[in-house]
Amino acid sequence: MEKELNEEVVLPTDTFASEIDAGLSASPKAISSRYFYDAEGDRLFQKIMQLDEYYLSRAEYAIFDQNKELLLQHFADQGRAFHMMEFGAGDGWKTKVLLHHFVQQHADFDYRPIDISGNVLEELESSLTNELPSLQVQGMEGEYFEVLSQMQKTDEQRKVVLFLGSNIGNFRQKQAIGFLSTLRASLTDGDMALIGFDMKKDPHVIRSAYDDAQGVTRDFNMNLLRRLNTELGANFDLARFKHYQSYDPESGECKSYLVSTEEQEVTMQASQAAYHFKKWEPIHVEISRKFDFETINELAASSGFDVVKNLRDKDEYFTDSLWVAT
Ligand code: AVI
Repeated sequence: MEKELNEEVVLPTDTFASEIDAGLSASPKAISSRYFYDAEGDRLFQKIMQLDEYYLSRAEYAIFDQNKELLLQHFADQGRAFHMMEFGAGDGWKTKVLLHHFVQQHADFDYRPIDISGNVLEELESSLTNELPSLQVQGMEGEYFEVLSQMQKTDEQRKVVLFLGSNIGNFRQKQAIGFLSTLRASLTDGDMALIGFDMKKDPHVIRSAYDDAQGVTRDFNMNLLRRLNTELGANFDLARFKHYQSYDPESGECKSYLVSTEEQEVTMQASQAAYHFKKWEPIHVEISRKFDFETINELAASSGFDVVKNLRDKDEYFTDSLWVAT
């Protein structure tokens, strides 16, 4: 049952409530996709990554499997020690291909996964302890930017930063340059970054990846409204919203919306506010940009990196771009 305005809920006074309030008061309405990831959001995203339609994870896994030797040569550059850091590590399914190979080759490195979800980090660390007991792992929970600033205080050993899964696609170009420039500022010349990019391709393939037949992506998006109900005391009726996905092959922008199927009012205890929805009014909840090499080069150049190598899967769906800080 949905909560009423006067029912008691624990009211967070943090940016979560104020950002949601600002997003629902804006025109057009928008909520950041960073709020997808509570425990249920993490679970549904794991499920998405196993869907037939969601080719991204499999393509990147294949790239790693094919190029693990070459990547080690670049990361370790003649046997140098390095820290391998990963933003938004998730369950580490793809990264484990590299970790297993690097450990087997006795590479001198440690692994530092960084994630906003403590649940995800705990599970990853315990699975790595079982699978690779000799690997040194130091999980870091927090916002990427906070952890980025702490990175500057770490020792002089080479840093290799992984930002995989086309997570960079969840930023607009300006935000992506801002993010990558902040990353660059916390690195030293010669440090490296490996960035995963989902490429422009047959628009139908992209649309299906974000509008799967089982409706897992729909549930993943809808979970955001459920989260606002339980954590911020909102009273969204999920039956009155629809998941809708668009893809623009010109810009490469794949966008997710939750669309109000009727005129309605939604209230939220945390903000003590009511939000009016017109019939068919959307809330924009995610952007998943698709890339071409021009845009990748522009991103690298604008944020202080040189592209060393672009690694691709056989279908040319995905690219892992290896960069060096210059
Ligand atoms: C995490 N991020 C890269 C995913 C994507 O493809 O944009 C999130 C996602 N949203 C719907 N399906 C997957």
